[in-house]
Amino acid sequence: MKLFKSYKKLGLTALMAGMLSFSSCNYLDIVPPEQVQVNDAMENHQNALGFLYSCYAFSKNDNVGELPYGNYLYDINTTADDILNPHAWAADGNGGPALILLNTLSAQNARDYWGHNYNGIGQCLLFLEKLDECDPLGRGIITAEEDREWRAEAKALSAYYHFVILRRYGPIAILEERLPLDAPQSIFPGRYHFDYCVDWICQQLDEAAKDLPAIRDVAYMGRMTSTICKAVKAQALLLAASPLWNGSFPYTTFKNDTWETPGYGTELVSRKYDESKWTRALAAVEEAITWAEGQGQRSLYTNNEYRDANINLNDLYIPGNVSDKFKEDVLRMRYLHYACENEGNREGIMVTNPGGLTTQWFASFPRNIMQLNSGTVLSGFSGFNPTLNAVQRFLTADGYMPENDPNFIDESQWYESAGMPDNGVGRSRIINLCVNREPRFYAWIGFDGGDYSMRIANGEPKTLNMLDKTMQGYNSATRDNSATGFLCQKFMPPVMQISKDNAYVGYVSPSRMVIRLAELYLARAECNAALGNTEAAIRDINVIRNRAGATPLTSAMVNASGMNIMEWVKTEWNNEFFAEGKRFFNVRRWVEGEKYFGLGKRLGLNALSKENPTFEEFNKPTTLPYTYTWGNKLYLYPIQYGDVYANPQLVQNPGF
Ligand code: GAL
Repeated sequence: MKLFKSYKKLGLTALMAGMLSFSSCNYLDIVPPEQVQVNDAMENHQNALGFLYSCYAFSKNDNVGELPYGNYLYDINTTADDILNPHAWAADGNGGPALILLNTLSAQNARDYWGHNYNGIGQCLLFLEKLDECDPLGRGIITAEEDREWRAEAKALSAYYHFVILRRYGPIAILEERLPLDAPQSIFPGRYHFDYCVDWICQQLDEAAKDLPAIRDVAYMGRMTSTICKAVKAQALLLAASPLWNGSFPYTTFKNDTWETPGYGTELVSRKYDESKWTRALAAVEEAITWAEGQGQRSLYTNNEYRDANINLNDLYIPGNVSDKFKEDVLRMRYLHYACENEGNREGIMVTNPGGLTTQWFASFPRNIMQLNSGTVLSGFSGFNPTLNAVQRFLTADGYMPENDPNFIDESQWYESAGMPDNGVGRSRIINLCVNREPRFYAWIGFDGGDYSMRIANGEPKTLNMLDKTMQGYNSATRDNSATGFLCQKFMPPVMQISKDNAYVGYVSPSRMVIRLAELYLARAECNAALGNTEAAIRDINVIRNRAGATPLTSAMVNASGMNIMEWVKTEWNNEFFAEGKRFFNVRRWVEGEKYFGLGKRLGLNALSKENPTFEEFNKPTTLPYTYTWGNKLYLYPIQYGDVYANPQLVQNPGF
């Protein structure tokens, strides 16, 4: 029986929300005029704790909280080249994704992630101010231990908000204290050199880590820990070592007008490659892994014991001959994003509250699942579509990519029938590209002739028909058509059933892993690849592959493939973190925007050209029929016009 984790404690009570919701005049979150109510927030222990929790609210917001997955309309999930939504959806929710896909983003139409996260910082700083001013410790309201831990929590959280702004926007303004209401514009801080920001964030995280526990009880999993601090520091230093910030920033004249960073003048970006940035990142990643696996008690999810009682491996359809172990691997990778801490999933380093995922499930579910007792047809939205690019990148059963596997079927035959026995359900339409692949492919990709889920349709899987317009095929009467011919099965509860009475049976909404241990292994592999330590990089790639049941990489394979070790590391990022929002930032920090997101680069099967296409018409690699394109200004996100206007020291990102 799955248990709900009690995250309620992390929410503000309605009372506290009312007390603390004052408006701010700009992103600097200048101190509001009446402070009486804010002081009430330290009046008793419950209020003080609620005040602390209110600092977290900004990081858990589904629309602007920079969560890696769970919101299918969010730009980091749906504007890279692993997952896309039907085009008609891209303009939903203020059009965030469409603006990026079509390169029409501007300082006027941009979302204010900047302001939102600075408000989070402002709340942390206000909390710290009030700890001094209202002195709940001296008044016996909180213990010395709480005082120390809460201060560290606010500091760590503020550093985290700075990091998420930095990751999206580049050089940031550093806020260490709130400005007084009458502060003249001339003292508003400007943006600091990127490397200076990274140093500052790391220092804050180091200091905070000392006063934080390494692990928390399940009920408090969302709160800051020293393990989170070390993982965020590793992420920040990996970002700093990456090409975008390590000599390859595409705009050579981007700098401040007047505002200066100590030691850097008006420069904002380092122009020269510095290998020591990789060495430093490597040390931080090493420390984060050691800490996470030691004090933090984190480990990759390898639990093969946990199963919902009614799972029978025979019910999992995989084309071709695969072993039971292979099916176990597929199921494990489905459970990874579903099993909770109390079910033996100790992979999450930073996790958010449950919720949100259910809307993503429904968006991903196929259209026309079954007829309900009421007579209506149960339909998901057939959205959140894996691109053909992502489908091609998953490994073959031999551990290569299809294009460089000496034993995989020749590319000229990828889109032909694999000749599976039809079984009267259309298995004969499965194409060669979908046979002889790695477990993660079958865990997460839904393809024509294959099954979606094991139980979704009143206890049965839904076998997909991506051609027939009355099933999951293109239908001009709806905007809910898979844009690529594929559907996503990641994040789904593996055995959830929807009954004929439209009841959802056998699921809970799991928490989301904002940072999980696997990424530290890939970060270390990437640092080692950059430093020429090929064998060390292969070792970490294989930690990830072994857990996924994929064939391990060898140096002989690297040599035979024509891909260098860094490309293999990138492949592993792409596959392990498929659809987890990583590709958005990874392609940017690798300065590969044009290569992967340029005009015509995003591919699907020929899924949108006509209703009821033939097998041959459908199974053709096809450029999506939209002008999705790239411009280098998209490496960074524009600061909303109003924020720049409010602060004369603040320079806009290049190109905006
Ligand atoms: C809704 C629409 C659904 C689906 C969804 C996607 O407005 O009714 O059919 O398109 O948006 O978010």
